Amino acid sequence: MSVDTAKNPDHAPVPAAGPELVRLENVTKRFGDHTVLDGLDFRVDAGKHVTLIGPSGSGKTTILRLLMTLTTPDEGAITVAGERLFPAPAKQVREIRKKIGMVFQHFNLFPNMTVLRNVTEAPVTVLGLSRDEAAERARELLELVGLADKCDARPGQLSGGQQQRVAIARALAMRPQVLLLDEVTSALDPELVAGVLDVLRDIARSTDITMLCVTHEMGFARDISDQVLMFDAGRVVESGPPEKIFGDPEQERTREFLSAVL
Ligand SMILES: Nc1ncnc2c1ncn2[C@@H]1O[C@H](COP(=O)(O)OP(=O)(O)OP(=O)(O)O)[C@@H](O)[C@H]1O
Ligand SMILES: [Mg+2]
Repeated sequence: MSVDTAKNPDHAPVPAAGPELVRLENVTKRFGDHTVLDGLDFRVDAGKHVTLIGPSGSGKTTILRLLMTLTTPDEGAITVAGERLFPAPAKQVREIRKKIGMVFQHFNLFPNMTVLRNVTEAPVTVLGLSRDEAAERARELLELVGLADKCDARPGQLSGGQQQRVAIARALAMRPQVLLLDEVTSALDPELVAGVLDVLRDIARSTDITMLCVTHEMGFARDISDQVLMFDAGRVVESGPPEKIFGDPEQERTREFLSAVL
């Protein structure tokens, strides 16, 4: 059963200190007659780390795809850093898109380019950085993700975990204001998961980047999140700080989901 958070003030998102960075208002998304997101409202404040949890098919990836403008809502509005992302003219969408970075489950690195080139390509072609500036930025980020010695390697010469860390560096090289992470460790061999999560913990701790993260790694969600949203059937069932959602959830649906995954 879904719960309308508007009618349950106790489940309203925790008030956050920073200014609002991302807002979805009454967003509905349908595929045919299947309503995947149903009048969804939520906001992410600047500098906060918000995690989406919930069962398969509940609409988590769809939210990130809407923010990446890979798909558009049927109804509602999306605002990023005070500017409309939807509905909005194409030029405005292109500008706002530069503020948003995403790392997917599958790394999608350019296989024919070196690691360094993978990280410098978009800053040069999209942001207009010089090759030298982009390379300097890329080396710092590859250091941050523990791959300073792999600049000249090709993706095919790296482990899955290393490739995913390159993908994280590549997203950060665009200096996005918000980083979207969709189950970034779920395609990895189990022994590689911890290294990637450690890098993300480090980024969450050491930068002021806003994160919107979909994950099945509940320990990681508990560590990094300011707020956790429990999703089911395209609606927020319950939201709150991780201690509350993982330690003392109010909704039966949340308890049921957590007992299945923990
Ligand atoms: N392009 C599409 N065409 C039709 N249906 C789609 C499309 N994309 C997603 N859906 C449907 O929308 C629903 C939500 O999908 P979504 O990928 O957002 O779920 P999710 O919460 O990310 O699930 P998972 O945890 O399995 O990744 C699913 O029922 C899915 O089948
Ligand atoms: Mg998904």
